[in-house]
Amino acid sequence: MTKSGDDPAFFRLLPSYGVPQRVINTLISNYDLPVPYSLNNPPSELHEAQWIYLYGTTGTGKSTYAAYLMSLFLRARARLGEAVVDIRKASDDDTHVSRGGALQDQVCYRYVRVTELLHAMKEDFNSDLNYGQHLFNSCRRASILVLDDLTSQLSQWELAQLDYLIDRRYGDELKTIITSNHSLERLKRVIGSERIPGRIGEVAHMKRMKRMYR
Ligand SMILES: Nc1ncnc2c1ncn2[C@@H]1O[C@H](COP(=O)(O)OP(=O)(O)OP(=O)(O)O)[C@@H](O)[C@H]1O
Ligand SMILES: [Mg+2]
Repeated sequence: MTKSGDDPAFFRLLPSYGVPQRVINTLISNYDLPVPYSLNNPPSELHEAQWIYLYGTTGTGKSTYAAYLMSLFLRARARLGEAVVDIRKASDDDTHVSRGGALQDQVCYRYVRVTELLHAMKEDFNSDLNYGQHLFNSCRRASILVLDDLTSQLSQWELAQLDYLIDRRYGDELKTIITSNHSLERLKRVIGSERIPGRIGEVAHMKRMKRMYR
């Protein structure tokens, strides 16, 4: 990875996509973005329909690395003109980010923890705001989605929601980065479903994270 001047400014865009502040702080202190891609030399990852499944025990930097990968794709797309993001202007202007300015890009990106998504959807039963449904829809349509921490047991209702989300993204060939504490084999047993791990196994590049940071 090569040092690049606008890394911290770029990473400061990420809250509006849902990336937690703690993860962003780790990115700023430990990660550098590669030299910006030129229009004539787009990164090959952009053209692959592949998903990425990051797995490993707790504290191996999965959530951080998932956000880093998202940054790579996001910046590549911005450079390619698919999402017009003036990195310096947007990150200097806090109100742009706090108003969700980055979400107004034509191409939408999303980082969500599985528990956060399911919790928001359940809250909809007691509220008219339908925040959970909006969040779910942005996860379903995002051109890059990080689905963080697909690790815990799920109820039948929860499984059905995630099954729908994953199946739609699989069908639409939308890039999805998933993190979990479990290998795919073990995930089948933990969540009690063959369908979700089956879809992931078919299209995802598997990356086991080993180095402990905690
Ligand atoms: N590349 C890195 N360099 C230094 N510290 C890191 C790096 N990646 C992650 N960390 C630190 O390690 C800790 C764990 O990182 P992270 O939350 O990404 O792990 P995780 O694998 O997602 O854990 P969990 O399974 O519990 O969700 C954090 O405190 C983070 O700041
Ligand atoms: Mg994590």
